[in-house]
Amino acid sequence: MIKEYISTNKDRFLHELFDWLRIPSVSADSRHKADVRKAAEFLKDKLAAAGVDSVEVCETKGHPIVYAEKLVNPSLPTVLVYGHYDVQPADPINLWTSPPFEPVIKDSKIYARGACDDKGQVYMHVKAFEAMMKLNVLPCNIKFMVEGEEEVGSDNLGTFVKENKAKLKADVILISDTALISLENPSITVGLRGLSYMEVEVTGPNRDLHSGVYGGAVANPINVLCSMIESLHDEAGKVTIPGFYDKVAELTAAEREAMNKAPFSLEDYKKDLNIDDIKGERGYTTVERTGIRPTLDVNGIWGGYTGEGAKTVLPSKASAKISMRLVPNQVSTEITELFTKHFQSIAPKYVKVKVTAHHGGEPAVTPTNSSAYKAASHAFEEVFGKAPIPTRDGGSIPIVALFKKELGLDTVLMGFGFDSDAIHSPNEHYGVKNFILGVETIVAFYKHYAKK
Ligand code: BES
Ligand code: MN
Ligand code: MN
Repeated sequence: MIKEYISTNKDRFLHELFDWLRIPSVSADSRHKADVRKAAEFLKDKLAAAGVDSVEVCETKGHPIVYAEKLVNPSLPTVLVYGHYDVQPADPINLWTSPPFEPVIKDSKIYARGACDDKGQVYMHVKAFEAMMKLNVLPCNIKFMVEGEEEVGSDNLGTFVKENKAKLKADVILISDTALISLENPSITVGLRGLSYMEVEVTGPNRDLHSGVYGGAVANPINVLCSMIESLHDEAGKVTIPGFYDKVAELTAAEREAMNKAPFSLEDYKKDLNIDDIKGERGYTTVERTGIRPTLDVNGIWGGYTGEGAKTVLPSKASAKISMRLVPNQVSTEITELFTKHFQSIAPKYVKVKVTAHHGGEPAVTPTNSSAYKAASHAFEEVFGKAPIPTRDGGSIPIVALFKKELGLDTVLMGFGFDSDAIHSPNEHYGVKNFILGVETIVAFYKHYAKK
């Protein structure tokens, strides 16, 4: 019945999603402020049309949050669906093979910014809800909370959650904003990394200098920044900040063995990225390096002359954006502090260093013995014909830890993307099959969860 509804309405589902993807809801770019709101209004209209009791676009200090609910019966369990309708900037635009906000289907995949992260995945929930309403089989109460600031650190979601605890009362949080291993090997994410995001500025002389007149006699801030950054890792690939690993939860040998049983092909991995070799912390496998180990990466670095041709200059300043991915039981504010102290302490006398913190977020691990996890597992088994493997993803969804803290709720991370979907990159895409199977699996989840 549900399969039939989906196949009959599939083209319409995709057309609607395409209309949503055409709205460039880039939360980081103030020029798109009105588009972000337009995307919120679009979602509001679609939720209303799908049959929610009420839906509102809630104002925040930043971009709005779309909140909706359908309360069937107070005796039934309540699922709070979280997602985000904002997207990453599309840059570098010239590397897209089709324009980022003009969705197209190529090789059975939807190409557009937000196709997978996260509009495409949020839309599966809207359509799963529509289908259950139309077929009169909605077995739970549903609340939707879809924000517009996830990609810029969810600054105002915490306040919204704290101020609306009664309204958000639920039994579980359901999120589709993560990845699957493959359609043949379905998986449920049970761990996410936390984040500390920093910016550093190194200042040398009080002005840009002629690199011939002064070069060799005055420290070059770009050279200095590079060696400071280089010193943040040792030869074993470990982060050298004192105390960085103090709170890292070490997994047992059995736990590590279990996580390495997940299907993974290093050959395919390298081929997908066009690299001849991988690099990471010594003594850990690729799944461990992204799943259970903390990291430090430079996200951007600038200074001096980067325009056309050559300009001989010894710059006054150099800067970098540096992020650290965190794992249980590291605490984002503590790591931010350790980084700041350390980075200042390694600054040579001939430069001044300024360190500022951007957003942060805590890591999260979700239970596998809850009734909600079991319902999700059954749903995958029913739709994919195979029990899902629990996996730990390397990305961050900081509000998962916040939901646990503020609402006392566990989350089920039922994501349907692939790591290779190029989220945050040019040519982001999402499989049409992933979308359709996602809708089916979500419907199956409600069915199993209602029986808990
Ligand atoms: N959906 C991603 C997080 C993600 C991706 C989790 C893949 C697991 C697998 C989310 O939209 C995201 O990009 N989060 C940011 C963090 C945020 C604080 C900016 C991230 O991970 O960089
Ligand atoms: Mn996302
Ligand atoms: Mn993202």
